[in-house]
Amino acid sequence: MNPNELLELIKTRRSYRTFEDKQINDQQLDMILEAGLYAPNAGGRQSILFLVTQDKQINEQLGKISRQVAHVVKGRYVSKEQPSIIDNPDIKSALYGAPTVITLLGPKDFIFSEADCCVACQNMMLMAHALGLGSCMISRAALTMNSDFGKALLEKKEIDTKKYRAFYHIIVGYQKGKTAIKERKSRIYKY
Ligand SMILES: Cc1cc2nc3c(=O)[nH]c(=O)nc-3n(C[C@H](O)[C@H](O)[C@H](O)COP(=O)(O)O)c2cc1C
Repeated sequence: MNPNELLELIKTRRSYRTFEDKQINDQQLDMILEAGLYAPNAGGRQSILFLVTQDKQINEQLGKISRQVAHVVKGRYVSKEQPSIIDNPDIKSALYGAPTVITLLGPKDFIFSEADCCVACQNMMLMAHALGLGSCMISRAALTMNSDFGKALLEKKEIDTKKYRAFYHIIVGYQKGKTAIKERKSRIYKY
């Protein structure tokens, strides 16, 4: 693999919050999930669960709940081209109408569950980007999935909500609009 291509993929991945009304296909979904599954995981425990929801009504409801439980800090800025609920508090769904939502859960009693979810998220977002899809990582998944609606979704799939906690969602779809590379500040210290 050409390392410059990988660096370019990493640098050009951006968070997308506006999507076409078109579902991703099964092959794309499988590749994104496989990228998540092959992420590093603490202690080699492979304990992360991936809940996929591609139903419009379910995602709409989860998005509404995610918006309701969000604490929006006014005066902060996230993105002009792909506004978040911080930029525009009138946005009704904090899952931004994405056609595919993947919720990552980990054992409550494992100190590295959140870290495991995060590394899986990054793998998945890079794969989505490589497939020409837009994605974004969404927090508050614990609160969202702890709602009656969220809990029912988990329980229907026999996910033990006493044992597992949701940490993040990844939203995926065909993005609308463009965003340029966001230059990063250098925070590197070398001896
Ligand atoms: C841990 C984490 C949590 C995030 N949570 C949210 C979120 O709840 N809602 C959202 O719209 N974006 C969320 N983001 C996306 C960030 O806003 C985004 O990565 C950041 O603004 C940098 O932009 P970029 O991803 O386009 O480079 C999250 C990102 C990370 C890493």
